[in-house]
Amino acid sequence: MQFLLHHNVIIQAITSNDHTTLEQCRDKNSAGWVLSNSLAAIHSELSQSLKMDKAHSALKKALQGIAVASLPGIDILETPPSATMDYLDSLAIRAVETFKFDGIITLKPEAFAESGIRAFQPDALPQVLKESRTKVDRVPLLNIPATYPQIWNAVEQEMSEVVRSGYFILGPKVAELEKQVAAYCQVPYAVGVSSGTDALLLALMAADIGPGDEVITSTYTFFATAGSIVRSGAKPVFVDIDPVTFNMDIEKTKAAITSKTKAIMPVHLYGQCVDMTPLQDMAKKHKLVVIEDACQAIGSEFKGQRAGGLGDFGCFSFFPTKNLGGFGDAGMVTTRSKELYEKMKVLRVHGMEPKYYHKMVGGNFRIDALQSAILLAKLPHLEGWVDDRRNNAQNYNKLFQKSGLTDQLTLPKEVFPRHVYNQYIIRVAGEKRDALREYLNSQKVACEIYYPVPLHIQDCFKDLGHKKGDFPEAEKAAAETLALPVANEVTAEQQEYLVEKAKSFLS
Ligand SMILES: Cc1ncc(COP(=O)(O)O)c(C=O)c1O
Repeated sequence: MQFLLHHNVIIQAITSNDHTTLEQCRDKNSAGWVLSNSLAAIHSELSQSLKMDKAHSALKKALQGIAVASLPGIDILETPPSATMDYLDSLAIRAVETFKFDGIITLKPEAFAESGIRAFQPDALPQVLKESRTKVDRVPLLNIPATYPQIWNAVEQEMSEVVRSGYFILGPKVAELEKQVAAYCQVPYAVGVSSGTDALLLALMAADIGPGDEVITSTYTFFATAGSIVRSGAKPVFVDIDPVTFNMDIEKTKAAITSKTKAIMPVHLYGQCVDMTPLQDMAKKHKLVVIEDACQAIGSEFKGQRAGGLGDFGCFSFFPTKNLGGFGDAGMVTTRSKELYEKMKVLRVHGMEPKYYHKMVGGNFRIDALQSAILLAKLPHLEGWVDDRRNNAQNYNKLFQKSGLTDQLTLPKEVFPRHVYNQYIIRVAGEKRDALREYLNSQKVACEIYYPVPLHIQDCFKDLGHKKGDFPEAEKAAAETLALPVANEVTAEQQEYLVEKAKSFLS
């Protein structure tokens, strides 16, 4: 839940030196916000009893970890003063409505009685939270704004720096994000691009892959994996999956190598790495380029090494639903090769080097400076979110085991730690997957199918000559898998609710 902290609560916390409520409002499940428009009023009130510099440092300390909500000027102009209400209280109501907060914590709830917003005293907060925790009546797949209290101050600062600088294309924010993502992925180089899809295409172009070449990849993945191969002019060669990890089967990959094979594109599906040792060995033996589709797998590891550094290229997506998501589309390619890095930077801007001179045909694959700024604000939280996802996955495992449903459901296995659970995937036996999904959705429990149709039987790949039955493990997975909400904001109570609902349907 997210609440606005009325300025009288903050003043009282500082003057009484009792920060209990502020502490409770630093929790991800009960985040507090303060209205920026009230900060000057808090400051002047504190200055009456404390020296000015003391008042300022006390305020700064009290507000650590509390997000600051700024009402846009237009909202203020649209908030008329009222004869019966303090103007800051009118703005507080406006803020609760604009930011969709769950209410206001205030020493004078009666002042908000007419407003229609929930207002309560600080000491009522534990009870409010307890009631909301136990009153689960829906489980969304994702709740992106739930993380805003953690990131908002930094996002606002980063974004306003970009907007005020007027520097929107490449520039210092992009360079800084590239540096930080490269370090996170334990590689020397990274190139920011417009999406995960363009990351894959750029890597293929930098590897000089094109007409006449074959690229081996999984048939059980998001469309962009094979779509980018086709766009490069090469032919995707599909292989079936390992039924436990859902990743490409290594023996079948070996068998798919021909004299035309130029690259392998392993997809670290759902956030778990492909078995990379034998894949790296076969790539070395046959002189094949390895392009990791790590779009779902930032932070995942294979034998202690991060995804993105396990091949020649690592391709990442910052689509909003990813573990590290932007406020729109963005992506990144990582590499250990200085030469490939330099080449990708040129290909990213139409193959232009120097300005208006083109030795190669590239594209406009640039990441926006604004997306880079947002991602810079979010990146320091990624490890914490990965921990949350891993804890949620473990909790589901425990709950399902306890529920007695494991004869009907297969739980995901962490074969190659560390799995970062971009998706938590169960298998539902006995052709009950679709009915279970329908039932859960009818109970307001979101769940999804990634992916219902493997790529070899997609219409647009008809020319490749595949038919149903060619890749039985992928087809079985497409018919049995179900993704459950596992993102960092999912609560233990929501997980219990989901498992109870699944139990009431399956038993
Ligand atoms: C496995 C995989 N590859 C590629 C992509 C493409 O990434 P984007 O949506 O950023 O273009 C995605 C994104 O969903 C993905 O999951």
